[in-house]
Amino acid sequence: MKGTVHYSTDGELAVLRIDNPPVNPLSSGVRQGLSDGLEKALADDSVKAIVMYGEGRAFIAGADISEFGGKPEGPSLHACLQMMEQSPKIVVAAINGTAFGGGLEVALCADYRVAAPSAPVGLPEVKLGLLPGAGGTQRLPRLIGAEKALAFILSGDPIPGPKAKELGIVDDVIEGDFIKGALDWARQQVAKGAPKRRIRDDSGKAAADRGNDEIFAEARRSAAQKMRGRFAPEMIIQCVEAAVNHDDFDAGMKVEADNFRKCLEHPQREALIHMFFAEREVAKIPDVPKDTPVKPIASAGVVGCGTMGGGITMCFANAGIPVTVLEMDDKALERGLGVIRKNYQRMVDRGRLSADALEKRMGLISGSLDYADFGAADVVVEAVYENLDVKKEVFKKFEAVCKPGAILASNTSGLDLDAMANVTTRPEDVIGMHFFSPANIMRLLEVVRGEKTSKSTIATVMQLGKKLGKVAVLSGNAPGFIGNRMLAGYTRQAGEIILQGATPYQVDKVIGAFGMPMGPFQMHDLVGLDLGWRARKLSGMKPEDVPITARVADKLCELERFGQKNGRGFYIYAEGSRAGQPDPEVVKLVEETSAELGIKRREISDEEVKKRCLYALINEGARILEDGIAIRSCDIDIVYINGYGFPEVTGGPMFWADQQGLSNIYQDILKFREEYGDFWQPAPLLEKLAKEGKTFASL
Ligand code: NAI
Repeated sequence: MKGTVHYSTDGELAVLRIDNPPVNPLSSGVRQGLSDGLEKALADDSVKAIVMYGEGRAFIAGADISEFGGKPEGPSLHACLQMMEQSPKIVVAAINGTAFGGGLEVALCADYRVAAPSAPVGLPEVKLGLLPGAGGTQRLPRLIGAEKALAFILSGDPIPGPKAKELGIVDDVIEGDFIKGALDWARQQVAKGAPKRRIRDDSGKAAADRGNDEIFAEARRSAAQKMRGRFAPEMIIQCVEAAVNHDDFDAGMKVEADNFRKCLEHPQREALIHMFFAEREVAKIPDVPKDTPVKPIASAGVVGCGTMGGGITMCFANAGIPVTVLEMDDKALERGLGVIRKNYQRMVDRGRLSADALEKRMGLISGSLDYADFGAADVVVEAVYENLDVKKEVFKKFEAVCKPGAILASNTSGLDLDAMANVTTRPEDVIGMHFFSPANIMRLLEVVRGEKTSKSTIATVMQLGKKLGKVAVLSGNAPGFIGNRMLAGYTRQAGEIILQGATPYQVDKVIGAFGMPMGPFQMHDLVGLDLGWRARKLSGMKPEDVPITARVADKLCELERFGQKNGRGFYIYAEGSRAGQPDPEVVKLVEETSAELGIKRREISDEEVKKRCLYALINEGARILEDGIAIRSCDIDIVYINGYGFPEVTGGPMFWADQQGLSNIYQDILKFREEYGDFWQPAPLLEKLAKEGKTFASL
């Protein structure tokens, strides 16, 4: 059995110290220890009250996720909780540190709760596609009312001790020596003759919300907006409704148990747990051990204060790291810094940042026109135009001014990192830091490893990513890295499908229904159709050499339809609106283009649209794995979810593929190859896994 609980007495108190490093999850040994400890305390006549706390930095961090799916040993959590609740002696939960999920639900079975000021309490189950299934949905509304309970459970976010007291979740916050203070607090309760106080017996607060349907309507609206497509929120809302509508506690518990089981069996739960572990897994790099020395990062430099450079500068300032941003001339610098201030101001206007914090962050940012100002920087990131010659010049300047050992990074979306590294004499310090737009908001950071990038540089940047609030994924140095390489096949399929008979609006609708925030043509409009068109013109490409999948976009540009930026692209945008309206003219243009190319149009089913777009991603993902560009399939999942809006509830493209069955996907791809040619050559790895009946995750 894993974990234990140490029993001791201190005067009239029995003290249960939960010990299951590092964060005291409710493993079998802890449940056994709690129930043994309670039994002992109840049998000892000199004990008047029972106090429980956790060893180390946590009270109880939650269920032991590793027990999920298996047959648990020892007493069930429910049996333990029942013992606590039925104990004739008062029980005090001394929340010394993290009390998450089942940990907080344990505390809710105590008669009294006290917390350390820094102790985070939360019910994060919703984030894993679950609900608090140990009475949390029933006890919390009884303790603090339905509205607050719903907000707390549906957000899944932790709150510190003082906020928990304000909400009424804990009775007191204890400053100073917490354990001593908590034991004194419990002794005072004994001295006062404080009564038993079982939450289950007092339905007053919950019942007060009976008939107040607006609370639940609002919770549903908010969940639909913030957790689109999620299954668990509705299950949670129903449980809280049951708590409000039933005076009988056990009737509500039955709803909780039923809904918990529904969540447990839902595929989203597996996908979200996959995401939970994947986020931790991506930090591990097999040949860069955990103890690899990392360099301290106390100051930064950014070159280019455009779309990306400005966002990256904000990332450093947001993390409290002083940053110097360099531009070509005064005008560009002024413009870039102005945009940064405007972005912060918008946060202030929306109440997400205080005016003080804005000034503090702007105070961390200095503008410059002189590379000499990078002399002391620990890390410099270039975000100049996507042109290799321009970037090489920047790296030569880095070489000249940066101190030895400084990290020299590029934000290129796909150029060869080694070509930049090789213009310096210190390629071991050169690395890719590929942010996503808007850089101050998007969570993904692709960290690109060059041929000579040192392990210490990799370890430092992976850690820096975390400090910047990103999830960092390591990629090999190959065109498009992980995400953009996969995207290429997806957009190419979308382009082909519309020439064969679908409309851009059908494709976007199908992809939207799958759960992506936008379809490929909405994405083109957002990015700007003119970028590719101008690049093709500049390169002198002849019209007949333009890839057929780009022909419609180029024709739109000839008509000065560049996308959202000028209100017309694949869609038409009303002044100031980001929601485009379909345009019959575009459909006509697509049909004409099919005719010019001699492609006979036919009806294409939504199912085919979905499969061709998504399988293109997955087939390329398999090649990326095979080439060793991504370390694990879950790394690709993290990239796609955090950088490209792939729906989180699917667990990412590779996990989703595993759930569909690789053999099914492989068979479909063979059919596509027959019909549409060599683009659909199955990746050898996909073929192998499909034939062996295995999954990407099994690798
Ligand atoms: P941008 O055109 O908005 O900004 C580039 C900025 O660099 C301009 O302000 C320009 O004045 C400045 N600049 C150019 N050459 C310079 C030089 N030699 N010295 C100092 N400043 C110079 O371009 P954007 O979109 O910010 O892209 C920058 C880089 O980020 C490119 O490598 C791009 O591929 C990459 N990237 C872009 C993404 C996007 O969605 N826009 C996403 C991820 C990466």
